[in-house]
Amino acid sequence: MDLLLLKTLVGLFSAAAAAILISKLRGKRLNLPPGPFTLPLVGCWLQIGNNFDHHHLVNYAKKFGQLFLLRMGQRNMAVISSPELAREVLLKQGKEFGSRSRSIVFDIFTGKGQDMVFAEYGDHWRKMRRIVSVPFFTNRAAVPSGVGGGGGEGGGGSEEEPAAAEEGVVLRRRLELMVYNNVYKIMFDKRFESEEDPLFVKLKRVNGERSKLGQSREYNFGDFVPILRPFLRGYLKTCREVARRRFNLYKDSFIHNRKSVGASRKGMVEKNNDLKCGIDHFLEAQKNGEINEDNVLLLVENMNVAAIETTVWALEWAIAELINNPKTQAKLRAEIDTILGPKNQVTEPDTHKLPYLQAVIKETLRLRMIVPCLVPHMNLHQAKLGGYDIPAECRIYVNAWWLANDPTHWKKPEEFRPERFLEEESNVEAHGNNIKYIPFGVGRRNCPGMLNAMAVLGITLGSLVQNFELLPPPGQSKIDTAENNGQFATRMLNHATIVLKPRYV
Ligand code: HEM
Repeated sequence: MDLLLLKTLVGLFSAAAAAILISKLRGKRLNLPPGPFTLPLVGCWLQIGNNFDHHHLVNYAKKFGQLFLLRMGQRNMAVISSPELAREVLLKQGKEFGSRSRSIVFDIFTGKGQDMVFAEYGDHWRKMRRIVSVPFFTNRAAVPSGVGGGGGEGGGGSEEEPAAAEEGVVLRRRLELMVYNNVYKIMFDKRFESEEDPLFVKLKRVNGERSKLGQSREYNFGDFVPILRPFLRGYLKTCREVARRRFNLYKDSFIHNRKSVGASRKGMVEKNNDLKCGIDHFLEAQKNGEINEDNVLLLVENMNVAAIETTVWALEWAIAELINNPKTQAKLRAEIDTILGPKNQVTEPDTHKLPYLQAVIKETLRLRMIVPCLVPHMNLHQAKLGGYDIPAECRIYVNAWWLANDPTHWKKPEEFRPERFLEEESNVEAHGNNIKYIPFGVGRRNCPGMLNAMAVLGITLGSLVQNFELLPPPGQSKIDTAENNGQFATRMLNHATIVLKPRYV
């Protein structure tokens, strides 16, 4: 037998024996949460496979309890399905469980946690979070036009586009342009003119590639079982290549441009401390030595994912629900006409005067929670939870979707019924004042973009419903709401085409 092969087999055998020994010793010392039967090296991965989206996790919780442990190869994953345990993880022990678990793929996209979303809990994260939050707090109402053609803040007339009123438009494409324009205005004081803008096309392409590679569950096997990693070499090479192309695009087409604008405005900036957009704040922090150039790029990377995809997918779900529930759509339109008066275009401050609009948004984020298990948390050190020991560096899934869809806590949760937020759940807000409803998380690692997201959702949905009848495309009675559940997010599987029939011609 070839010496190298012999050495490899001996190595694998020793690793397996060591893993069995360590797991036996650990198992004796630790009082681990219940979970499926595990095997050395692979844990319960062979039984569970990739089927652990929020729906499957509910089924496992029914079998193993509100806190259970999946040992997926080398990764421990604790799954939480009760409000009490969620409160413990996110609030009472928020510091202990305030880090993030990464994967071999996310190590590539986030520079091993040198970004903000996947940073360990600590000084670096605190600094990055402060720097990123400023522009999104101060510019939260910067919502540009665009979804239905020109017009008001979020939608507008479609006289230029008779096709939208007959054959329909591909919803996701329209929403992407609008949401990119919102985020790029805040970040770079930049606006893309149309879906065909070459820079927009390039940007969307690389971000789309990153999203596909990151959301896929295809790489789990190599992440869970390190000896299988050689089979992921091609995948990881593609990830590195995409990361490189994205960073170059951000640098060459946005950051450098903004640096030169900054240089020409230097005197003014120093005198007035008048930093204009997000990147000015990031570059200022770099200049002060708070963060380095890589951190700046990684903040831009984070915003391209956290701020854009989530908002597009939430809008897409909300519009699909309004089309599939025409009575809700009509009721919302009547509220807008009555409170604002016909043709008075919805603005951001108006959205707070429209309780049914707010209820529609909340109900969408309840039933179609975009980040259903939050961004997985992690405990750096061994911890205690619900009377069990949680091993260090355990990936923690809080099944926030189940907390918001558990029939013990919600009346007929499977129904899309915004009225619940005006009736029996009228005290429940999106910012997490009730742990059973946390679409933006709660506690230290909650979403810093919540106000911006709620503003964009309010203006866009308000303007669309005010100006158009939203309908399924010809020959279809409903929008297909099949789900695509990725590593972190739930979005619509198929790109919906919708008809925008103008109310005022
Ligand atoms: C984190 C939801 C929009 C930036 C999160 C988390 C959720 C979430 C569930 C994880 C909370 C946790 O792990 O405890 C959403 C939804 C959005 C949205 C549903 C839209 C509908 C935005 C926007 C921004 C943003 C517009 C722009 C600033 C972030 C960042 C984090 C985050 C940076 C990581 C926070 C940290 O790790 O400390 N978001 N988000 N999100 N979100 Fe959002």
